[in-house]
Amino acid sequence: MREPLVLGIESSCDETSAAVLQGDRRLLSHVIASQDVHEIYGGVVPEIASRQQLRDIGPVARTSLEQARVSPRDLSALAVTAGPGLIGSLLVGVNWAKGAAYPLTLPLVAVHHLEAHLFAPNLEDPEAEPPFVGLVVSGGHTLLVIAEAWGTYLLLGQTRDDAAGEAFDKVARLLGLGFPGGPEIERRAQSGDPRRHPFPAPMVRRDQRPTDPDYFDFSFSGLKTAVLMRVRELESEGRLPGEVPHLCASFQAAAIESLVVKTVRAVEWTGCRRVVLGGGVARNRALVDALRRAVGVGAAIFVPSPRLATDNAAMVARAGAFRLGRGEVVGLDMSPAPDLAFPGLRTRPAAARTLEPHVPGTLSNR
Ligand code: KG4
Ligand code: ZN
Repeated sequence: MREPLVLGIESSCDETSAAVLQGDRRLLSHVIASQDVHEIYGGVVPEIASRQQLRDIGPVARTSLEQARVSPRDLSALAVTAGPGLIGSLLVGVNWAKGAAYPLTLPLVAVHHLEAHLFAPNLEDPEAEPPFVGLVVSGGHTLLVIAEAWGTYLLLGQTRDDAAGEAFDKVARLLGLGFPGGPEIERRAQSGDPRRHPFPAPMVRRDQRPTDPDYFDFSFSGLKTAVLMRVRELESEGRLPGEVPHLCASFQAAAIESLVVKTVRAVEWTGCRRVVLGGGVARNRALVDALRRAVGVGAAIFVPSPRLATDNAAMVARAGAFRLGRGEVVGLDMSPAPDLAFPGLRTRPAAARTLEPHVPGTLSNR
């Protein structure tokens, strides 16, 4: 039997992307149209993003099919991000997908954007598969989960305020750097001393226990405020310009320590031998290096290549192929949702916090 051929569509934030995937890993084409215009506003302006996406979606999808040398009639299904994300942006992708699926009588698959981020490393490495500890660090979300199997997840922790990428963007903004802030901060941090402005790693204390609700959770807004206070002090002393690299290095070190400590706790608590990273912040080399050092030989770390870390349609096609395999298609009455619930994600009930360590039956790699 021919392997399924899925056209993936992603438009949840400011990227417009289409990809044709055959089976689980044969990526026949992958087109991403990004938008630089938001740089002058210091953040994504939703209305501008969706208007541009409306112009881009047709050409991006057509180019993707042409590059793959695939006729729309050959497709097995259309997979589209249904949320979470900006509603105007999601509507562009979902409505385009519905319009294409209807005349071709193609099955339509709704994909959850964060589940797609977890699938990204699997496009390049079949070993990046459950059971694993998954850390999604993007501009809008910060989630620590256990993937017991594809489609079955346990939420360990999440951010209580800003997302990790959002913190990089906000700190970059208050330092007068460009948008998105992550790459700018990482670049300047390379020539800075992380010990010059020692910010404490947020929500990390030695006395935390797995039974505590904040053991796996994150928080980045206090760290951002601490940087702001330091910036004001340095500004009033006229010393800010020379300190920017050190502030970048110090902020980045604190943010990374928090992400690494929680991920290591998850590895130790679950006995999982694999860690999967996803989302734009997974492009940060300092984060990946720190995680590798901290986890050591205890677990393999799977990091998507830069193009697959930030928003892209290849990961949407991959997650869509999985859902299609389970027969999970949706009707043309499907609506996108900015706060779409993560399918198959259970939260850790307070009672379960007393069960430690967590050894689900499917975690056979302990
Ligand atoms: O996953 P993504 O493309 O979009 C969302 O789903 O949000 O992530 C974008 C985020 C931005 O906040 C950006 O600053 C951050 O990823 N980012 C980075 C780096 N590259 C992108 N953060 C830290 N270091 C980087 N090198
Ligand atoms: Zn994303």
